[in-house]
Amino acid sequence: MLQLRGDSGPRWIAVLLLWAALCCLFVPAVTVKHENFKTCDQSGFCKRNRQFADAAAATSSWASPYTVDPATITFKDGELHATVLKTLQIGQEKVELPLTVTFLDSGVARVTLDEARRLKGDITLRHDSKARKERYNEAGKWALVGGLKVADGAALSETADEGYTKVFYGEGSKHQAVIRHAPFGIEFQRDGETQVKFNERGLLNLEHWRPKTEKPAEEKREGEEETKEEEKKEEIAGEDESTWWDESFGGATDSKPRGPEAIALDITFPGYDHVFGIPEHATGLSLKTTRGGDGAYSEPYRLYNADVFEYEMDSPMTLYGAIPFMQAHRKGSTVGVFWLNAAETWIDVVKAKSSANPLALGVKSHTDTQTHWISESGQLDVFVFLGPTPQDLTRQYGELTGYTAMPQSFAIAYHQCRWNYVTDEDVKDVDRKFDKHKIPYDVIWLDIEYTQEKKYFTWDPLTFVNPDKMGKQLDKSDRKLVVIIDPHIKNTDNYPVIDELKKKDLAVKNKEGNQYEGWCWPGSSMWIDCFNPAAISWWKGLFKYDSFKGTLPNTFIWNDMNEPSVFNGPETTMPKDNIHFGGWEHRDVHNLNGMTFHNATYQAIAERKKGELRRPFVLTRSFYSGSQRSAAMWTGDNLAEWSHLEASLPMILNQGISGFPFAGADVGGFFGNPSKELLTRWYQAGIYYPFFRGHAHIDTRRREPYIPGAPYTEIITQALRLRYQLLPVWYTAFREAHTTGAPIVRPNFYVHPEDERGFAVDDQLYIGSTGLLAKPVTKEGATSVDVYLADDQPYYDYFDYTRYQGAGTHTVSAPLEKIPLLMQGGHIIPRRDRPRRSSGLMKFDPFTLVVVLDKENAAKGELYLDDGETFDYEAGAYIHRRFAFDGKRSILTSTNAVPLGAKFTAKLEAYLKSMSKVRVEKVIIVGAPKAWKDKTEVVVMEEGAKESARRKTVAMEFHAGSGKQADWAIVRDPKVGIGRGWKIDFS
Ligand code: NOJ
Repeated sequence: MLQLRGDSGPRWIAVLLLWAALCCLFVPAVTVKHENFKTCDQSGFCKRNRQFADAAAATSSWASPYTVDPATITFKDGELHATVLKTLQIGQEKVELPLTVTFLDSGVARVTLDEARRLKGDITLRHDSKARKERYNEAGKWALVGGLKVADGAALSETADEGYTKVFYGEGSKHQAVIRHAPFGIEFQRDGETQVKFNERGLLNLEHWRPKTEKPAEEKREGEEETKEEEKKEEIAGEDESTWWDESFGGATDSKPRGPEAIALDITFPGYDHVFGIPEHATGLSLKTTRGGDGAYSEPYRLYNADVFEYEMDSPMTLYGAIPFMQAHRKGSTVGVFWLNAAETWIDVVKAKSSANPLALGVKSHTDTQTHWISESGQLDVFVFLGPTPQDLTRQYGELTGYTAMPQSFAIAYHQCRWNYVTDEDVKDVDRKFDKHKIPYDVIWLDIEYTQEKKYFTWDPLTFVNPDKMGKQLDKSDRKLVVIIDPHIKNTDNYPVIDELKKKDLAVKNKEGNQYEGWCWPGSSMWIDCFNPAAISWWKGLFKYDSFKGTLPNTFIWNDMNEPSVFNGPETTMPKDNIHFGGWEHRDVHNLNGMTFHNATYQAIAERKKGELRRPFVLTRSFYSGSQRSAAMWTGDNLAEWSHLEASLPMILNQGISGFPFAGADVGGFFGNPSKELLTRWYQAGIYYPFFRGHAHIDTRRREPYIPGAPYTEIITQALRLRYQLLPVWYTAFREAHTTGAPIVRPNFYVHPEDERGFAVDDQLYIGSTGLLAKPVTKEGATSVDVYLADDQPYYDYFDYTRYQGAGTHTVSAPLEKIPLLMQGGHIIPRRDRPRRSSGLMKFDPFTLVVVLDKENAAKGELYLDDGETFDYEAGAYIHRRFAFDGKRSILTSTNAVPLGAKFTAKLEAYLKSMSKVRVEKVIIVGAPKAWKDKTEVVVMEEGAKESARRKTVAMEFHAGSGKQADWAIVRDPKVGIGRGWKIDFS
């Protein structure tokens, strides 16, 4: 026992106190369990390819061992075919790799490279594996839906240099692919300038098949010295055999029956300093370098969909979804690549700076972004986009993988979730409380506890006694219910769903070919294999109203855990040697898995009842390129911490430019209890998430918006009302995303692609094309924010019209009750100002138009509306108006944004009729010219109105702003129809 002697007492106490203080400083933070997830070094193929890259960099005479055999080159109908030969150092044997370069009508080029021997199935598998022998080549079947029309105009250049094949393609033949034969490489040029380079650094590495040879032990002993030297060389060249075969991690062994089969390539963007994309990572928008150094990551960005528990901030670690689409941006140009591969993938990013050459005039300093893509298996399949604008990129990527589904209007309103609302009475009570506090919401959610013992498609008979009644109460105020259905099916007795899954043989198989069993929420479970068309058909049947009893037309679905999450699996997912339909290993298709599942659910909801043609709503956690066609996503299990609120903005912005913009983060933070301030600020930020849902872990305290009390509840309510007021803006932005691929919330670089200073700005966002610029508060105790303005237009505070002008940073006051939101001059913003309980109840509400004048006193804007529910919009049943304020003539007009002409259908007629009474009830002009100060009326003209109403005068009020506040004018109730053509003359 510790004896304290007389005078030593106080000193010991001081030491103890210091110790206690230090302990407080280092309270173990809630953090990800790194040991559960591989680093590149622990992932054989990643390690080998990084070694390969290091060897190439270290060798001045490095020569990539890949050449095009010129005798094999053919070019026909926009497609080039050739054989690439890989020369092996040992024995000079050559491996044949069929190459295809396809030039698409859209100006995009596609490059595929495969391995002849595996294609023919001429390999032997180890461990009696039942897997397919080819490299996986079906990712396109799931990800691509269009844009594959081959270009008629692509042509071989007649002036090809020896050793090169050149193809002109793209509009006006502006694009050129320069294929170098030895070593093999491609440069993609636009207007004669190289934008993207393949294999410039010689890192192309297609690990060809080879049998495992057991080396006799004596041989090794005899030439020990020599062997070591040899081994060293092999290691340097990335041929380190130690990771070729069976690989173990965290107690699980991957049998790797096909041996090493990685595919890797370096892709350089010369002159580009910024690259964006490749979600999902908790990182900033502009991707960092990954090979060490100041502020850099030391690991590559990883894409291997996984249930990463308590994920960390500012990390290239993998998360739940994967979109292997990267964009490089510089002033005047945006280009990109889409790496169509569904296997585990790592991407190194290096920014190679070259300084200006003082001796060579005109040689400026510049940065090349060098990337290195490494996938575990599958064929090489890469699309190259040459822009030149960010809008071209999102459109062309969308043409290939599909645009965002048009959601039902409720889906873009507010969703209230927690794990869990515990009974049907609880749900009804929450519903009533929202009404009591006059807080709008549209959807309430049920997490896994609603089921009977985690058996999906059942209700707990003790707690959800009358789901039908619950659903009907919600429907009274046009509200919806979302229930969770996960892909793991409880492996238990007396559960027809598992019985059928087994009997029909629709589950994923293990490497022996038996139905795979693992562990998830229900305990022992099996996983539906949605790669199997028969499994999809069966899945669809389970959602029919008479099968999933208690569900109603206002019930929708949440698909969680679909990476898939397997609690006892390697890296909390499935073993890579599991087998899917078609004989593909899980390794080949892993990143697609989540999408196949939510696609199946989407189809199921679309077909619940014959003739019920409503747009489904499905939320997914795991995703891949193409997920945008059938689901919304959220960023998974974040923490109730300020840093997670902050990270949500770049993550959601990144989703937007990566083609999957219907994205959100758990408002309030999933784990932990947010302070009232954090919760409030999170709602004020969450109103800018395209998918807006509050959610919380089962161990957290209740935190519905009415819980925190004054002044927080009022402030949160105001935020929610702002979301509801701007729903027309959000819906119009969704329409744009649905038809052009444009993001719903947009980063600075996307809106101002010429503004170099703003390329990395990722903490503020523009909503659609409206010029609304939001800068959420993400710092504790903050009372102001610095908003970055890229241009010289006037920007106005949304609430009080304070004017900010001049490119650069402006401080906007933001006490807790204030949401920093500016309006860029030059836009017309449609809103609905009447507070209602749900968005459905706003369907026939009148509109307010806020006309925000630019420097030339002009403005324009759009409004898209449809029934918000059915697919009738596909038959033209919508209103799409274009508003314009002509600054010279001072006339505001409403015209059709798209010609009705051929699209004038019976459905459109019926829709217009249903909307005929919906009018504009207010027009506000922000930045109104001083010359209007004595004006008291405007002239309104409406087409199609009764003669008496066709031309009328309506009162106008002019308000002189005080201080920095802009002048503004208001026309109350011009009574013009929202679906009609009209003019308001302010001159
Ligand atoms: C994990 C999800 O990320 C979380 O949102 C959900 O509440 C739990 N699973 C329980 O279903």
